[in-house]
Amino acid sequence: MSSTNDIRRSFLDHFAAAGHEVIPSAPLVPHNDPTLMFTNAGMVPFKNVFTGLEKRPYVTATSSQKCVRAGGKHNDLDNVGYTARHHTFFEMLGNFSFGDYFKERAITLAWDLLTREWGLDKERLCVTVYHTDDEAFDLWKKIAGLPDHKIIRISTSDNFWSMGDTGPCGPCSEIFWDHGDHIYGGPPGSPEEDGDRFVEIWNLVFMQYEQVDAATRLNLPKPSIDTGMGLERIAAVLQGVHNNYDTDTFKSLIEASGELTRNDPSGSMQASHRVIADHLRSAGFLVADGVLPSNEGRGYVLRRIMRRAMRHAHLLGAKDPLMHRLVPALVSEMGQAYPELIRAQPLIEETLRHEEVRFRQTLDKGLKLLDDATASMDKGGTLPGETAFKLYDTFGFPYDLTEDALRAQGLSVDRAGFDSAMAAQKAAARAAWKGSGDKASEDIWFDLAEEHGATEFTGYVSESGEGQVIALIKDGAQVTSAAAGDEVTILTNQTPFYGESGGQKGDAGVISNDKGLNIPISDTLKPLGRLHAHQGIVESGTITVGEAVHLAVDSVRRGRIRANHSATHLLHAALRHRLGGHVSQKGSMVSEDRLRFDFSHPKALSAEDLAAIETEVNAQIRQNDEVTTRLMTPDDAIAAGAMALFGEKYGDEVRVLSMGKGDTHSYSVELCGGTHVRALGDIGLVRIVAESAVSSGVRRIEALTGEAARLWLTGREEQLRNVAATLKTTPDDVPTRVAALADQVRKLERELADVKKTLAMGGSGGLASAGPELINNVPFLGQIVEGLDPKQLRGTIDDAKKAHGSIISMIIALNDGKASVAAGVTDDLLARVSAVDLVKAAVAALGGQGGGGRPDMAQGGGPDADSAPAAMEAAKALIAG
Ligand code: SER
Repeated sequence: MSSTNDIRRSFLDHFAAAGHEVIPSAPLVPHNDPTLMFTNAGMVPFKNVFTGLEKRPYVTATSSQKCVRAGGKHNDLDNVGYTARHHTFFEMLGNFSFGDYFKERAITLAWDLLTREWGLDKERLCVTVYHTDDEAFDLWKKIAGLPDHKIIRISTSDNFWSMGDTGPCGPCSEIFWDHGDHIYGGPPGSPEEDGDRFVEIWNLVFMQYEQVDAATRLNLPKPSIDTGMGLERIAAVLQGVHNNYDTDTFKSLIEASGELTRNDPSGSMQASHRVIADHLRSAGFLVADGVLPSNEGRGYVLRRIMRRAMRHAHLLGAKDPLMHRLVPALVSEMGQAYPELIRAQPLIEETLRHEEVRFRQTLDKGLKLLDDATASMDKGGTLPGETAFKLYDTFGFPYDLTEDALRAQGLSVDRAGFDSAMAAQKAAARAAWKGSGDKASEDIWFDLAEEHGATEFTGYVSESGEGQVIALIKDGAQVTSAAAGDEVTILTNQTPFYGESGGQKGDAGVISNDKGLNIPISDTLKPLGRLHAHQGIVESGTITVGEAVHLAVDSVRRGRIRANHSATHLLHAALRHRLGGHVSQKGSMVSEDRLRFDFSHPKALSAEDLAAIETEVNAQIRQNDEVTTRLMTPDDAIAAGAMALFGEKYGDEVRVLSMGKGDTHSYSVELCGGTHVRALGDIGLVRIVAESAVSSGVRRIEALTGEAARLWLTGREEQLRNVAATLKTTPDDVPTRVAALADQVRKLERELADVKKTLAMGGSGGLASAGPELINNVPFLGQIVEGLDPKQLRGTIDDAKKAHGSIISMIIALNDGKASVAAGVTDDLLARVSAVDLVKAAVAALGGQGGGGRPDMAQGGGPDADSAPAAMEAAKALIAG
């Protein structure tokens, strides 16, 4: 018996030997297609290759593609567990020709693999063709030698395959396996075809068209081939079992579920084990591909899948959370083929555990409510929509979980009632919203959010992708299209652009299409906290609501924002280490060129503190640990070491970012919805460039990272080199040279002061050297000196008194346009005039006020240095009487 892993391998080998490029599975979230919720077929990653939009270096390919069919056109969720072949997650084996071979080789390759390589009994195979496709009919006859009655013409859509409402499509030919007459059913097209005896195992699609919209179908550039074979189905055939859930992979998962719940895997609760096995796979793979449970979009589909499984775990009597304990079995079955499962194992386990712990808090009460509500209902009854809504709103029961729970009793749910209860709740939320006050624009956002739900943010894992335009806003009103020159706000159903929130600036980038549209996006906002509103001016082309566009984030800019954001978390942790637990975040701003972090702390940080903080942060960066993101309840996050911000309101769930190694927890654990580096080394370098006060008790640090930090340092070095050049020395010698210069300057200043004083006292060259002049026979010495320190005035007057014995003296010192004045009168002349009067007269002339002291010594000043000669004359006039 071949294992599922062997079968996958031999399929890929078969087509590799026939010249096909083996392509690893694309992620489950199709970033190249905005119309799909999940990758739902092997051809999805090649969609643009079929239509000719994208060229690859190969023309034939083969893959084993992860697929999820839950939500969207192909949705199998409701049937899982109750049929032999429905799955939410499955693997699709496929071979593809992009304009290379067509029907003949596709049929030959398929037939060879089935009958030669795998040795399937030709007698148990039959095929269908599209009713008008004579060519395919003849080829099957020629290549496989099938008799006419085993080549069945089918006219329904079963034999015309399309990916979704739009995209590549074409007639197809399906290969069926007859599981044997012990099972009820007939070949396709027969009245018993709905039985389970004949099972479709492989679909060969002869891709010829592209469905552009409901009315337009174009020819593909070249006819192509897309085939898809469910690995689980072919494994059942090759392993001789009828039910996919009896193949090796599922058996292992189901056994693990049986063991952990001590509930017989093949007993009466078999369906529950199957649901758990299937949902474990889809949940595990979705988490590994970056989807986390949430209340909208893809995250909500994941949550529905998880909770559906969790109710079945509860039905099996699991007392504690079960799903996360099954992850090791999943990884051991599938991790080799899909290493992303191994990488994401801790995250998958934790996400499942968290979701189950949370859901269990309300599950019992919800089920009790459901039991009470249905106790008196007969088979065929309908649960009121209000009750289903209460289960949804209060107890976290997704709508389809309620349906699933009632299914066994033959009851259904009033969907219309559920929808109207939901609409009433939304209207109440709208009425209660207190926004910016701009009612007109907020009405638009509310309408859009109600109609389309939150924008799906794909930017945690990718920086470009496709989105469908759901609204355009120009001059405050919705428009259906916009052309060159128009300033528009663009809303798409999904986007990799981060909308400004949590201190992180919105993304910039480009929105374009292949018809010449180009809109540079300057910013992205996040109205209502749920919609990502791209802002830009159309440069060329036309953008139209309903069309798909390509969204590409400016990834260099985003890279800088990531580094700056992660650096704020590290700084926060380092500040707390260094300064103490009182430090908490008061605000932050993360842009592409710098970061700002405000925090509570009573005083300025010393140079040593700043150096120590910077050293610690950079040491963490060099450790280069991977940054991990998990989803937790706020309480769990706090238990994991996250700092709860007082007064912040958190939802039921928070994204928790952990960085670096600390003593007990990670070095930094924070609740954050922003975008971050993958590993700390991506930050490169952190440099604190400013520390200041914001308000009393709040300090601000500004810092740079990566290239900006390096450029800043280079700039500083450049300055140092320039200084060295001016000083005619080397950068190394600058400190010694500057110290020597400072000494020299101090010495010169001292010397200069002495010289000025000497001058003022009548030193050589000074006015006074001619000796005092006589005014009314009184000796008077007057001096106006530029730049004499006012502090020296008094000493100079004293010196003049001593030198002359009997003298009236006055000095006016001029500094920066202002004048200071001092006057002295020796005791023998006090009867003639008072120094106070002299100073007052001078001060008045200098435009000042007051002035005073003692009769023998007085001082004052005025703002008008130019009037110094007049001041001197005023003093003299007073002496002259
Ligand atoms: N796209 C086709 C299918 O999904 C064949 O791969 O069935």
